[in-house]
Amino acid sequence: MKITIIQGGPRKAGNTPKVASFIAKVLQENPMVSQVNYLDINTYNFPVFGTESPDAEDLESFRDALLSADGILVVLPEYNGRVPGALKNTLDFFRPEYAKKPMGAITVSSGPFGGINALHDFQAWMMYVGAVPLSTKLLVSNVGSLFDENGEPQEFHFNKNYPEYLSDFLWLVEKISA
Ligand SMILES: Cc1cc2nc3c(=O)[nH]c(=O)nc-3n(C[C@H](O)[C@H](O)[C@H](O)COP(=O)(O)O)c2cc1C
Repeated sequence: MKITIIQGGPRKAGNTPKVASFIAKVLQENPMVSQVNYLDINTYNFPVFGTESPDAEDLESFRDALLSADGILVVLPEYNGRVPGALKNTLDFFRPEYAKKPMGAITVSSGPFGGINALHDFQAWMMYVGAVPLSTKLLVSNVGSLFDENGEPQEFHFNKNYPEYLSDFLWLVEKISA
């Protein structure tokens, strides 16, 4: 299975890229997964939609990674109770590419609620664009103290929940792409 991960945190030095990188590493080691494409919204850095044209090669490579994916996993922080504007702006460059795609969302927060508001926001968006959303949640709370200096997660609940989440995600991808 080919999985595309979208790193949806706009802060280059933020915590969301750490979570997305960790999840990408875990998926790369999973024998069910043949390829992981990692799309970082900061690397693509699309302009505000409608103001100027994005780089054509960037647009095509992002589109290819969406179209070729058997499943898409978005890792995003909660900003002011919603999906960050920069992530929504990036996603707005595409639409038919999401149709019928199994899609999961992992939300990240420095507080205790794990970005639940952003998850609900994003779930509505996934439904709107015709994706097949995973209902299982992975809410990453208190992310500032999650990783040790080697990038390994140290929190009991996260370490218990992320394998179950990824197992459910790959189950959905396998069912839909069969
Ligand atoms: C503009 C902005 C808005 C934020 N709003 C929220 C919020 O609504 N809820 C929340 O739990 N954390 C909020 N945070 C804190 C993030 O949870 C925190 O920065 C966390 O590390 C994940 O985002 P990051 O990738 O930017 O680090 C906000 C952070 C920023 C920069």
